[in-house]
Amino acid sequence: MSDHNDRDELADRRRNKLKVLHFDKDGKDLVESEKPDESFADVGGLEDVKKKIRMNFILPLKQPELFAAYGKEAGGSLLLYGPPGCGKTFLARAVAGEIDANFMHIELQAILGMYVGQSENNLHDIFEKARENKPCVIFIDELDAMGGSRNQMRQHHDRILVNQLLMELDGLRTFNDQVFVIGATNTPWYLDSALRRPGRFNHMIFVPPPEESERETILKLKLAGKPLAPLDLTKISKETKHFSGADLEQIVKDAVEVALERSLETGDIQPISQDDLKKASKQRKATTLDWFATAKNYATFSDVNQDYQIVLDYMKANGLK
Ligand SMILES: Nc1ncnc2c1ncn2[C@@H]1O[C@H](COP(=O)(O)OP(=O)(O)O)[C@@H](O)[C@H]1O
Ligand SMILES: [Mg+2]
Repeated sequence: MSDHNDRDELADRRRNKLKVLHFDKDGKDLVESEKPDESFADVGGLEDVKKKIRMNFILPLKQPELFAAYGKEAGGSLLLYGPPGCGKTFLARAVAGEIDANFMHIELQAILGMYVGQSENNLHDIFEKARENKPCVIFIDELDAMGGSRNQMRQHHDRILVNQLLMELDGLRTFNDQVFVIGATNTPWYLDSALRRPGRFNHMIFVPPPEESERETILKLKLAGKPLAPLDLTKISKETKHFSGADLEQIVKDAVEVALERSLETGDIQPISQDDLKKASKQRKATTLDWFATAKNYATFSDVNQDYQIVLDYMKANGLK
């Protein structure tokens, strides 16, 4: 009960402190900016990941004197990577919520689609806006889209944008304290190596698929508010090893569809049953497995810096080949 009140109070506090960011006409379509309400408490599990983020992002902001004594300032960048649908975007929002910061979500595909000359200006504007509204988290999703295109014209265009991003990240080191940049990618091995140098995206954080208890949390979250028969979600979580958060979301959608069809046939509301969920989970397979197969290739044959040893360790510990 008091737990609940605390949470309400926190949400109120966040709402009251909400700063509205104003964007110029061009930036508006590219960036969503807001103050997320999610915090780490909403992210199931991922304790190692949270700890790393606390150490690098959150504590330096909360105890600046202590960290300054060691020459560390609040700010910087990190890169989240891992199989699709396992909470990278979710986690980035929660970081902003956790430090009560503004959150700017950059869809890189949208920026890349712009005219030459415009996209790098926009990128610069975004970093300017972040500085004016600190603390601020800039989240660059689909980072691998950058520099990954085939044709020559595009490649040149992308190159300019990569260089602009490098400049912004380097600038961040000198005077952008309290501006945080989080990048996310499913394919870190395709990333332009210049982006991985010290002071840029040199902190790589592996975001693994949810473990059993996290799967149960995610299922509960996705089923909340729907008509339900008595359910044993522990059982479903046991049977969905390696499934991503997004896979679990899909299972719930499939089960909803079946229950809905049944309702249309009978003419009354038919709750989602254990059997609906079970069947739905049997019909889907974990989409993380392909990712692990690819990651293993890179980790085994071209991982000169041992960046992906953690992935191999995870695979071993979780019975993945
Ligand atoms: N650890 C987690 N706790 C709660 N929800 C999660 C977790 N991991 C994934 N999800 C849910 O799964 C979905 C996909 O997550 P997302 O962050 O978009 O994945 P990614 O960015 O890694 O592709 C989201 O709807 C999110 O709510
Ligand atoms: Mg994402």
